[in-house]
Amino acid sequence: MIECNNGLFHLKNENLSCLLRVNRYGLLEQIHFGAPVDSEDVKALSCNPGLGWGESLLLNPADTASCPDAMALAWSGSGRGDFRESPVEFDSKSGDLSYVNHRVLEQQPVMESGLPMARGGETLEITMAQKGVKLYLYFTLFDTALTRRAVLVNEGEASLELHKLMSFCLDLPGEYVMTTFDGGWIAEMGKHTTPVGPARVVNESTTGASSNRHNPGFLLSEPDAGEDHGRVYGFNLIYSGNHYASAQRSLQGLTRVMQGISPANFTKNLAPGEKFETPEAVLCCSDEGFGGLSARMHRFVLDRIIPEYWREKERPVLYNSWEGCMFDFNQRKLLDLAKRARDLGCELFVLDDGWFGARDNDRAGLGDYNVNRKKLPEGLEGLSARLGKLGLDFGLWFEPESVNEDSDLYRTHPDWVLHNDGFSDITGRNQLLLDLTKLEVRDYIVENVTRILDSANISYVKWDMNRHSVALGVKAHECILGLYDVLRRIFEPRPHVLLESCSSGGNRFDLGMLCFGPQVWCSDNTDPIQRLTIQGNLSYLYPQSTFGAHVSAAPHAQTLRNTPLTTRGNVAFFGCLGYELDLKHLVSIEIQEIKAQIELYKKYRAVFQFGGFRRLKNGWQVSKDTTVIAGVFHGRMDAAPGYEQLRLKGLDKSKRYLFRTRPQKIRVGQFAGLLKHVAPVDLNPNGSVIRTADKHLGLEDGVELYHVTGAALMSGITLLPLFRGTGYDKNQRTQGDYGSNLYVIEEE
Ligand code: GLA
Repeated sequence: MIECNNGLFHLKNENLSCLLRVNRYGLLEQIHFGAPVDSEDVKALSCNPGLGWGESLLLNPADTASCPDAMALAWSGSGRGDFRESPVEFDSKSGDLSYVNHRVLEQQPVMESGLPMARGGETLEITMAQKGVKLYLYFTLFDTALTRRAVLVNEGEASLELHKLMSFCLDLPGEYVMTTFDGGWIAEMGKHTTPVGPARVVNESTTGASSNRHNPGFLLSEPDAGEDHGRVYGFNLIYSGNHYASAQRSLQGLTRVMQGISPANFTKNLAPGEKFETPEAVLCCSDEGFGGLSARMHRFVLDRIIPEYWREKERPVLYNSWEGCMFDFNQRKLLDLAKRARDLGCELFVLDDGWFGARDNDRAGLGDYNVNRKKLPEGLEGLSARLGKLGLDFGLWFEPESVNEDSDLYRTHPDWVLHNDGFSDITGRNQLLLDLTKLEVRDYIVENVTRILDSANISYVKWDMNRHSVALGVKAHECILGLYDVLRRIFEPRPHVLLESCSSGGNRFDLGMLCFGPQVWCSDNTDPIQRLTIQGNLSYLYPQSTFGAHVSAAPHAQTLRNTPLTTRGNVAFFGCLGYELDLKHLVSIEIQEIKAQIELYKKYRAVFQFGGFRRLKNGWQVSKDTTVIAGVFHGRMDAAPGYEQLRLKGLDKSKRYLFRTRPQKIRVGQFAGLLKHVAPVDLNPNGSVIRTADKHLGLEDGVELYHVTGAALMSGITLLPLFRGTGYDKNQRTQGDYGSNLYVIEEE
């Protein structure tokens, strides 16, 4: 509901309130953003500058409260005495903008630039102006979030240079800590917290993409907020290019926060009559801690961002050929893998890189779309038909935005590439970027990708992008708009094609990409212990159905860590499950375990993918309807560990539940040398008896079964003890480092 009354605007529903007021100087004050309040509360909620602060500039010398520098504002500029960071900069005297009028719209207007947007939502449009410039601010209300964006129009007679235009700006009273999610390849989404003080804290990407260096999503929390208590704000941008966000506390104790396109390398020349639209930003708040905030963000992403077709559509268990084959495959090898994958329970076979042109390594072929007939004599059509006969769907990898210099495309159209003007080109993974601002380049991509998609029965696309470019310069934003145009033209007419975007793993994990495809490959690192960080931290802002999570080989290719297959599965369950390893080397006990994993996942797929996700002290929980599933994970084990509790959240205290451990086996090989401790035999740990036993036999790992109340589960039940050097017992979790368990809890 949006109420407008005498310069007071209240966007309100049962979860949040955004209260704005136009003051007598035409400035837009932010009275409140957070839990629902009443419009009548305005006086009590507003920041009143009273006699002002000593050195403030006053808009009216007779009114000591007329100091913009001390006001809590929802927008500002540099031209009227607010010396804090300005969300807008153009020409020399930007930011003298004052309120003109407003409108309430049933839903927000579609952006002419083609930027992706959240679906629906009642919208307040506030128009601000100064001579020759109009600024439209959009506030759109959703169930669990508010979105904001800005449109600046040059209404003057001369052209205007725009240097910076944020999507929103907001002043919040109080003290906050900023949490950002930063990293790099195979180390995405590290969580870092920085207290917001008088020095500005910035979260920015300048690589041309939203990047793995700094995810655009970030949080501001009260210093004592915790997982289940305290105030936490969450912000994100529906955009895949360079982004910028900052937070800074003023002397008056107001934290100014803003987010938008990064002003670095950004200049937009607006001819008279021309406009610039910012991406839409998402603002969310919870007084129930980080967990409460995540639940609201998840709801928003599922309901308003990912394509409607995929909203609650269960995703297939896939097999991906990359880690198992890399570039070295042919149809026979692929079909052998496919058959094995099918027998394990996989539903979709994804052929990764290497199926086209001279693509036998990453030095050649990118940009070309002719199927490599040496590897695939029957083409994609033949391969997909054979997969179909096996009962498998077919998915394919593309990397359409880049080109190798050693490709037919580059040899024919060297001018289609972004060149590093005046300097030599700098490649990354032997690639250059195509210039997506050119219509003929976009047409080439759309024509080729759609031709391939329509030529075979392809139900899934992995859309990769493996390099950044220094040659983007001021074209960065236009290139992202070009990408959106390409994605829209390919995928909107084919909503049934499951699009999983990727960028060397999670180098472009953002809400912009999620508007076109419901999943993102969040990291090339599938080591489950690293995934606890990556998936766990993604969960602050993104629901688990938005990320692919694969089981791969151990020791892991990116960390050399050796982890149990059970843990690899238990972690990958909390995402869209896939397998990515050479299946022909699996031994019987691994085959049994994977079959059991897939069977369980399929049974509870809706719970894993769409259930409410919660972070626990020692693991994760998902719950949907009458089922709760919890994973408990361990890193490096201490000697003689004590009792461990599992404490679930959000259950019905009065209900009874059946609590069961997912049965899993412990490989005997790892205990070979220890057998003499428990059995009167002296077996060679490297001998054939042990090796054979290891392939086929497993020891039972502590299984628990209780009929128990929700009250007890929420108070915390004590799990079976962990191994502590006193021998094997089947009523014990005998796991060592990187062990884990999965518990299925069902209402009785
Ligand atoms: C990137 C992706 C990988 C794989 C390779 C193929 O690194 O992140 O998953 O698709 O490209 O070249």
